[in-house]
Formats: sequence, structure tokens, C-alpha cells
Amino acid sequence: MRKVFVTVEAAARTAPATVIVAIDGPSGTGKSSTSKAVAAKLGLRYLDTGAQYRAMTWWMLANGVDVEDPAAIATAAGKPVIVSGTDPAAPTITVDGADASGPIRTHEVTSKVSAVSAVPEVRARITELQRTLAATAEPGIVVEGRDIGTTVLPDADVKIFLTASPEVRAARRSGELKGKDAVDLASTQAALARRDAADSSRKASPLAKADDAVEVDTSDLTLDQVVECVVTLIEEKRTA
Ligand code: DC
Repeated sequence: MRKVFVTVEAAARTAPATVIVAIDGPSGTGKSSTSKAVAAKLGLRYLDTGAQYRAMTWWMLANGVDVEDPAAIATAAGKPVIVSGTDPAAPTITVDGADASGPIRTHEVTSKVSAVSAVPEVRARITELQRTLAATAEPGIVVEGRDIGTTVLPDADVKIFLTASPEVRAARRSGELKGKDAVDLASTQAALARRDAADSSRKASPLAKADDAVEVDTSDLTLDQVVECVVTLIEEKRTA
């Protein structure tokens, strides 16, 4: 059997470099499913930044902070301890040590998260958590959100901006909502439009496509096709 000896220096030279991938876009464009699948396929870590804003919102509601009052939100923004687990096969989120993955998906949190995430003190706190996670993720990370390519990680190696038609987004979102949170398609589409308008028009790092992001319209694509497209873009970048 032929033996191959590789020096530490040579291994370091040939090992793929750390890769940071930013995937932004509004909800219902397939961001979460795509980001998790891409991270799993490439052996990267995964961060759902929307979950962090939801966790902050849940904590504010649970602790009696008036979420209509930006000053009250700003004062409380430093208090909750939010920890994200970045395994794409089983991402986790805890607040003050308690599992928050269920409560952050309720209709109440969804309807208040845009107001909470518009407060600059909230964004500064969560942006710092995101940058720390990205800087320490080996061998890289896929970070999904609204402002990752523009503000949080402007030097990301690959930036993707996912879009889809309002009808397709509403249909996908309705499919995710279960039990008492389920509402009809028209209400879902109206709620998405309201959240988009709030997220895109806020002063502090709004939802926006970075100039150097690749836009992918997912309306007529299957999840596998979107994943394939993003993986190809990352591999092209890695071998460039
Ligand atoms: O992706 P999501 O629907 O779980 O995100 C929930 C909210 O969090 C979204 O309406 C806006 C906010 N958000 C944000 O302001 N910045 C991010 N990077 C991610 C989410």
C-alpha cells in the first residue's frame, strides 16, 4: 500500500479556508431551509439571526417590557443572555439558560419582533453576538438574516439575497403555521407585507441587498435547486 506523508504546513496549505456565507432576504423566500441544507452539505456551522431577534422579543414580553416603547426596549436590551447552538442539523436557542425554540415562533412574538429589532441598542447587542460566533466558527458558517451582507459581515466571502413573489412567500409561510397560529392566505400575505415594510424602512440596518450579493429568485425553484445554486456559488468562490 502506498503511504502518503503530508507535513503540517502542507496540510494547512491544502485545507479549505474558513468560509463565511451571508444569506439575506425577507421571510418565505426559503432562507432557513436553504441555509441549513447548504451548511449541512458543506460541513459548516449555521446561524439563524431571526431567532436571536425573536428570543430578545420573547424575553421582553415575558418580563413585562413595553414593546411599544423604544426607550424601555433600549434600557432592557443588555439583560437577556441569548445563546445560539450552530449545528445545522439541530440548531438551538436559549434565553437565560431556558430553551426558547418553541416560544419564539408564536404569533405574539412574530407580530412584535419588527418593533423590537428596530431599536439600535437591540441591534448592537445582537450584532456583537453574531460577529463573535462568525469569527470563531470552524471551518466556516452560513449566517441567515436581513442585514448580514450589508452590516453584520460586510466582508463575507459569499453573499446571497433570496427573493420570491408575495404569493409564493405567503403560501410557504402558511404551510409552516400550525394549530392556533394558522390563518388564511390573504392574512398571511398582508402580515408579511407589513413586516417587510417595517424591516425595510427602519433606520438601523434595514433589510437590504448588498451591492455585491447575488440575487436568487426562488419562486419557481425547488429547495434542492436553490441549495445546488448556492453550493455552486460557494464552491466557485472557494476555488477562485
Ligand atoms: O427570519 P425571521 O422571520 O425569523 O426574523 C424575525 C424578525 O427578526 C424579522 O421580522 C426582522 C428581524 N431580523 C432582523 O431585523 N435582522 C436580522 N438579521 C434577522 C431578523
